[in-house]
Amino acid sequence: MSAATGKKAVLELDGKKIELPIYSGTLGPDVIDVKDVLASGHFTFDPGFMATASCESKITFIDGDKGVLLHRGYPIAQLATQASYLETCYLLLSGELPTAEQKSDFENKVRNHTMVHDQVSRFFNGFRRDAHPMAVMCGVVGALSAFYHNGFDVENVDHREITAVRLVAKIPTLAAWTYKYTIGQPFVYPRNDLSYAENFLYMMFATPADRDYKVNPILAKAMDRIFTLHADHEQNASTSTVRLAGSTGANPYACIAAGIAALWGPAHGGANEAVLKMLDDIGTVENVAPFMEKVKTKEVKLMGFGHRVYKNFDPRAKVMKETCDEVLSALGINDPQLALAMELERIALSDPYFIERKLYPNVDFYSGIILKAIGIPTEMFTVIFALARTVGWISHWLEMHSGPYKIGRPRQLYTGETQRDIKR
Ligand code: SDX
Repeated sequence: MSAATGKKAVLELDGKKIELPIYSGTLGPDVIDVKDVLASGHFTFDPGFMATASCESKITFIDGDKGVLLHRGYPIAQLATQASYLETCYLLLSGELPTAEQKSDFENKVRNHTMVHDQVSRFFNGFRRDAHPMAVMCGVVGALSAFYHNGFDVENVDHREITAVRLVAKIPTLAAWTYKYTIGQPFVYPRNDLSYAENFLYMMFATPADRDYKVNPILAKAMDRIFTLHADHEQNASTSTVRLAGSTGANPYACIAAGIAALWGPAHGGANEAVLKMLDDIGTVENVAPFMEKVKTKEVKLMGFGHRVYKNFDPRAKVMKETCDEVLSALGINDPQLALAMELERIALSDPYFIERKLYPNVDFYSGIILKAIGIPTEMFTVIFALARTVGWISHWLEMHSGPYKIGRPRQLYTGETQRDIKR
């Protein structure tokens, strides 16, 4: 529980003083509990939640000025380079890194839930083959709520925990099948002899005709690290969506589908796809300068740049860039888009327009270049983000349901018509 500091903020309104309690966490800013403002007949007003802490959490800490990202206290750079994605999943879900025995047990649990009910595969057929993969994911993940609803008791901790395992286990299968469906290839089923990232790439790229398809271990390692870099990120828009949906007691699979929908937007998880499209539009380094002028006149945004919280650098972008260099050199790929991205970054980081606005590369700026090197098509980039973030979403859902919570129900500043009568 947060520490009540005994300190108070005093709000003076209409000659009256309202004392508002101040609480401290273990890291980060103190918070002012504003619920007593209501008694004064006022609401607080904070569109976009720029200065609002929506909940108390122990999962992830971000210091935007120092470029710090901790998952249960562990720095993201250590997790991305020293732990597997499934170990990070275990950490986010349970609060601690697993022992060797716990890791093996968790891996087996996930391995035993990678299949989906065979009737789920029929939901894909309702989509056109050229449907955006994120539209398909919203549909098929939401459909899982129909298979795990009867008898589900959100108050039952065992029901909640098996839900987390099922979602971590099944999301790669549904993501790979989404890709297969859009390219008209048959679904490839998960295998129990492959690691999590290997299994995903196997389901993505193996075909029935190529029974001996082998996943390149360099790509599997890069994929696993990309999953870890996207696993969780505090109360971002999609996680807040999952928490708000979950606060009504809604089916968890439906809540995750809501998170997928929120992530899809180009201002959020859809940015990785938008970065590659932006690099395609710019084409060559010679076009960078005129493009930057269009950014400054606000005709376009520099996708993959800027962040609501990070005002110095996104620690994930640093690891992503290192991984980018490793993968491309290991594969002997000389991708001109990497050179273009680096030139964009160089110019942006030395331009007062971006410096004044504290705009730096975020997690999405380099991820697309690696995903392309792995062979993943641009339209699937946000699906990869959703796959990896599912564990973060369900960790926050579990945390909310592990203690007392209230249904989320914000108010508003009403500026519409006053009451009036219909005149016929
Ligand atoms: C993710 O919240 C999270 O944690 C998200 C995420 C996660 O892991 O969950 O980190 C994942 O969503 C990363 C962000 C991916 N989005 C993009 O890369 C899209 C491009 N970025 C922007 O849309 C923007 O930077 C946001 C949405 C990320 C943040 O927007 P804010 O905090 O609301 O900032 P703002 O829009 O108020 O911008 C402040 C100023 C404005 O200029 P002025 O009006 O002051 O002149 O900066 C400008 C903006 O126009 N600006 C940009 C810009 N981002 C902000 N200008 C050009 N290009 C950009 N990318």
